[in-house]
Amino acid sequence: MKYDSFLSHIASISCSEVEDIELIPFYTLQNSKDLRVTYLSWLNNIDNLQLIASPHLLSLDKPMSFIDESFNRFTTPNSFGFFINYLPASSLIGTVKLDNYDFRDNSAWDGILIGETKYQGLGLSKQTYLVLLSFAFHTLKLETVNGGCCSINYPMVNTFYKLGYKLLHVKKAVDLVKGKYYDHNYFSIDSSAFASNYSQLRPVLKMS
Ligand SMILES: CC(C)(COP(=O)(O)OP(=O)(O)OC[C@H]1O[C@@H](n2cnc3c(N)ncnc32)[C@H](O)[C@@H]1OP(=O)(O)O)[C@@H](O)C(=O)NCCC(=O)NCCS
Repeated sequence: MKYDSFLSHIASISCSEVEDIELIPFYTLQNSKDLRVTYLSWLNNIDNLQLIASPHLLSLDKPMSFIDESFNRFTTPNSFGFFINYLPASSLIGTVKLDNYDFRDNSAWDGILIGETKYQGLGLSKQTYLVLLSFAFHTLKLETVNGGCCSINYPMVNTFYKLGYKLLHVKKAVDLVKGKYYDHNYFSIDSSAFASNYSQLRPVLKMS
């Protein structure tokens, strides 16, 4: 991401066409102890993390230092992390990120966790990604956003397709979920595909 100092003054990001979701950068919430406890509870809900199939995330009883590392990681110039604010409930329900920025092709990797599981099943991943991608393409001016998920993570697979991501390739039998190996699907969307699907969508930045 072409780092510009104004980025560290963003208080929140929304889109006029996306009613329910606002994204709040990690750095604005660094000092909230209650949020750190909540975030840790999301990352210790192993059942909810199964389909991410990341050995790093599946360790049990993660300590608070895990959260400190996440805050460090998602507040660097090549990694932008956000808490997802579900506006109808005024509640932070999870996290979403643009990570591993690659300056060679101006791309980054997305990722999402709805940690408050009662808010799953409402299609909020699509709304969250609409805000994230409008910021990625209009504000950060990225060329491509890459994503990936386990082939049996049907809500995520569906979300990628609904947003207009293309399936680029499939790695066979690499995701270990409850003792069985599944394929990992790699997706991608570029700025022109997003613009043709969502020409009206623009991010609204509130600055601190
Ligand atoms: C993956 C995740 C972000 C999806 O969130 P969500 O928005 O609540 O997803 P939903 O359950 O609303 O499903 C999204 C879409 O997939 C569809 N879908 C859900 N389960 C499905 C299934 N078993 N088969 C086919 N389609 C399915 C839904 O119908 C919905 O489409 P619609 O809006 O057209 O109805 C959320 O489940 C989560 O945070 N999981 C834990 C972490 C994770 O796996 N993150 C992704 C890592 S790559």
